[in-house]
Amino acid sequence: MSMIELNRVSFRYRDEQEDSLCEISASMDTGSCWCVSGPNGCGKTTLFRILAGLEFPTAGTYRCGGEEITAKKMKRNEFSWNFHRRVGYLFQDSDTQLFCSSVEEEIAFGIEQLGFSDAEIRDKTDEYLELFNLTRIRKKAPFHISGGEKKRTALAAILVTEPEVLILDEPYNNLDEDMQAWLLEFLEKLKSPERLILFADHHRNSASALADHFLYLNKHHRIEKDDAEARQRVL
Ligand SMILES: Nc1ncnc2c1ncn2[C@@H]1O[C@H](COP(=O)(O)OP(=O)(O)O)[C@@H](O)[C@H]1O
Ligand SMILES: [Mg+2]
Repeated sequence: MSMIELNRVSFRYRDEQEDSLCEISASMDTGSCWCVSGPNGCGKTTLFRILAGLEFPTAGTYRCGGEEITAKKMKRNEFSWNFHRRVGYLFQDSDTQLFCSSVEEEIAFGIEQLGFSDAEIRDKTDEYLELFNLTRIRKKAPFHISGGEKKRTALAAILVTEPEVLILDEPYNNLDEDMQAWLLEFLEKLKSPERLILFADHHRNSASALADHFLYLNKHHRIEKDDAEARQRVL
């Protein structure tokens, strides 16, 4: 059984005439790193929102850890809590992800939700502020920090909960070259036999080197090529 199993998943937004994803099937195991690529509008974000439990297939099934993920189950607090603890999702746009009044609160929020003790919350928050070079701006409002700092804050807030599945929607967007190099190195270190990493990218860049599996969506919202062929397209 794979960590993530998609079986002919299609998705259509409410009131739309066409599917935004068509019959996507894939099996993704822990220990692997997937690059999902394809032109703007092909459905990368839609796919990731389904994987992150924010949208649900209109047809087909999505299983995570063997369990089918449905809207009905996700309405149950305990189910949703367990799911979100295992699956971390970095939004394409950090502004839509960040909502707390300071950088440190942003990082503490996830572990507060997970019921960590006050001492653990303090220690973990300090550790991740340091790790992401955010200590200096810990009291600042996310609204008033730079794009790179926002991205680092959003990443820290997700990683502090140590998710098994890490979904990153165009993590390199709006990062300067130094930050991109830093992130590449950081993600490389996050690879582990217990973790599944997915990231989306719409153009060729050095991030693709991180991936060991590739999935290419075409403008018709279908998997055009997988793995070896998609790899050639991206690298
Ligand atoms: N909230 C939405 N409502 C209706 N259509 C949407 C919505 N979000 C995205 N779409 C459409 O779904 C398709 C896939 O979009 P998206 O998943 O954002 O692609 P990508 O991330 O690859 O650029 C596009 O045709 C887009 O216009
Ligand atoms: Mg997108």
